[in-house]
Amino acid sequence: MKGCVFLLFVVSVWTNIESYIVNPGPQYIPTQGSIWPKPASVSTSNYFYSINPKNFNFVVKEWNCAILEKALEDYKNIIVQQIPPINGTTSIIEDEYYLGEMTELYVDLNRTCEDGDYPPLNMDEEYVVGIQKDGYFNLTSESIWGILRGLESFSQLLYYSDQTILINCTIVWDRPRYSHRGFLLDTGRHFIPLDKIYQIILGMSYNKLNVFHWHIVDDQSFPFVSSKFPELSSFGAYHPSLTYSPEDVANVIEFARLRGIRVIPEFDTPGHTRSWGQSHPELLTSCDSVQTGAYGPIDPSKNTTYNFLEKFFEEIRDVFKDQFIHLGGDEVDYDCWELDRNISDFMSENNITSYAKLEGYFIGKLLNITDRLNFSSIVWEEVFNNGVDLPQETIVHIWRDWTGALWRDTMQEVTKAGKTALLSACWYLDHLSSGGDWVSFYRCEPTDFTGTDEQKALILGGEACMWAEVVDKTNVVQRVFPRASATAEKLWSPKEDNFDSDLTARRLEEHTCRMNRRNIPAQPPNGPGYCISSF
Ligand SMILES: *[C@@H]1O[C@H](CO)[C@@H](O)[C@H](O)[C@H]1NC(C)=O
Ligand SMILES: *[C@@H]1O[C@H](CO)[C@@H](O)[C@H](O)[C@H]1NC(C)=O
Ligand SMILES: *[C@@H]1O[C@H](CO)[C@@H](O)[C@H](O)[C@H]1NC(C)=O
Ligand SMILES: *[C@@H]1O[C@H](CO)[C@@H](O)[C@H](O)[C@H]1NC(C)=O
Ligand SMILES: *[C@@H]1O[C@H](CO)[C@@H](O)[C@H](O)[C@H]1NC(C)=O
Ligand SMILES: *[C@@H]1O[C@H](CO)[C@@H](O)[C@H](O)[C@H]1NC(C)=O
Ligand SMILES: *[C@@H]1O[C@H](CO)[C@@H](O)[C@H](O)[C@H]1NC(C)=O
Ligand SMILES: *[C@@H]1O[C@H](CO)[C@@H](O)[C@H](O)[C@H]1NC(C)=O
Ligand SMILES: *[C@@H]1O[C@H](CO)[C@@H](O)[C@H](O)[C@H]1NC(C)=O
Repeated sequence: MKGCVFLLFVVSVWTNIESYIVNPGPQYIPTQGSIWPKPASVSTSNYFYSINPKNFNFVVKEWNCAILEKALEDYKNIIVQQIPPINGTTSIIEDEYYLGEMTELYVDLNRTCEDGDYPPLNMDEEYVVGIQKDGYFNLTSESIWGILRGLESFSQLLYYSDQTILINCTIVWDRPRYSHRGFLLDTGRHFIPLDKIYQIILGMSYNKLNVFHWHIVDDQSFPFVSSKFPELSSFGAYHPSLTYSPEDVANVIEFARLRGIRVIPEFDTPGHTRSWGQSHPELLTSCDSVQTGAYGPIDPSKNTTYNFLEKFFEEIRDVFKDQFIHLGGDEVDYDCWELDRNISDFMSENNITSYAKLEGYFIGKLLNITDRLNFSSIVWEEVFNNGVDLPQETIVHIWRDWTGALWRDTMQEVTKAGKTALLSACWYLDHLSSGGDWVSFYRCEPTDFTGTDEQKALILGGEACMWAEVVDKTNVVQRVFPRASATAEKLWSPKEDNFDSDLTARRLEEHTCRMNRRNIPAQPPNGPGYCISSF
């Protein structure tokens, strides 16, 4: 204990005088066996067991299913691989707190899981892990999703000391603060290959993020291969090799499902659709008067637009399994609409008195289509700001103004209108600052706005967003992790009034090295330091 106090003391002195003295050694000493994101409740003691991976097994107590079998196999590999290799049995540990070798963890899923289950919005993720002094080692949950989260926590309790894997006696009772803990990946600005997508989804599972928001197409390219309209990608993708085939998409959905992660696609309209026009120019507003051959947003005045969208979203309903679809609706540029005579004629015929209302008319028609297809929807905040009458279950996704107070005002208005909300404004991974910029992510508190408890209860969670203007396969994973880990902890862990940034930095240092050992090239979070046995 003395040693710990002394270390903390050294660290804090170092911080104060860093401007003129640089000591050798890392900036933050990693913790050992701490769980990221922090559980709802965890108690640890000084008693500990050792684990020899060659002599360790999961024992399934009651229900089993394919998801569970796959997870146990994966975590067995993680336990073997993430720790530097040791030879033979562990050496006898002479320590008053040492309790012997732990050889089994009982995995008690007390309800059946269907092999075809997809994780839903309100998936039950509660679990208990007990590593007890009396030799009982249990992971229990009433849900397969809770078992997955509990296996992750169990794997994080292990730490390495003197060539031995150790685990302290610990009781974890855990459940998330928010049910929607997402990560947005933009694959329209740069194509991100499948192996990187898998790596990111694995990284998400190590951080208990549970929604992969796939911003799959944008103005610049249309990599999604539609079976009904293959011309969309054959004309709209950057290159024939830079596309996601139906099989690729199905594989991503399955890969995510096995890890308790939902996949929600975004097909952003009516703006951000220039790539659609490469094969279907009739969908877009001609903008010849601005620039010859130019096109603007989708033309909301034509019936054919809606006929097309209905057929397109029918296919999307078949391909993607989640209840929700993200319909976009952000950043619609009205210039081309303003210059188009047919659109002005249409507006006066239909008594549409502003371009915001025209956009509202479009979104209303689109929502009718997706509603008929049994999709619930998520829209970017502009749709709400423009006064579109939204169905009750439509979620408003707040993104504007990460620096100032604007997101707080929007959050206040959205929840005052009784609508559920997601927050992304503070978690834009494309905005970089020097050093440990996870701290500003961490300081963002979704309920930090003026409103009643009922309003605050309408927040479903949030998403960290990786817009891809300046990332591709060479740097995307490094930029996502561990910065998205800060968002993950904000969304999972109980609200905290006093943020202990030193301890959090040490925990993130451990978690980053842990991700590195699992082949996630997470970048250093805090400045000078090192990871043992990274890839
Ligand atoms: C785990 O046990 C070790 C050995 O007794 C002790 O030094 C350490 O502080 C414990 N860690 C936690 C998080 O309780
Ligand atoms: C482990 O065993 C192998 C082969 O027996 C040996 O080459 C290696 O040096 C040993 N490693 C350690 C850390 O003892
Ligand atoms: C699962 O465990 C909970 C809590 O211990 C209990 O209430 C429930 O009846 C159990 N369900 C089954 C199917 O055993
Ligand atoms: C833990 O597992 C053991 C062995 O299966 C069992 O006897 C015990 O009742 C379990 N304890 C709890 C708290 O579930
Ligand atoms: C478009 O659809 C509306 C409503 O269904 C209908 O009234 C109108 O005649 C249609 N316009 C054309 C050009 O087909
Ligand atoms: C519509 O979606 C809900 C929620 O996902 C689901 O329970 C229901 O079975 C679906 N209905 C149809 C007709 O597909
Ligand atoms: C307006 O509509 C007319 C008749 O459908 C069509 O010929 C013309 O090309 C349209 N103009 C623009 C700018 O789309
Ligand atoms: C437009 O508004 C005028 C005046 O309020 C009304 O007479 C007319 O019927 C409306 N037209 C449509 C298509 O709603
Ligand atoms: C959507 O459907 C409802 C019910 O069928 C209808 O009343 C409404 O006018 C439709 N909205 C639009 C914008 O088409």
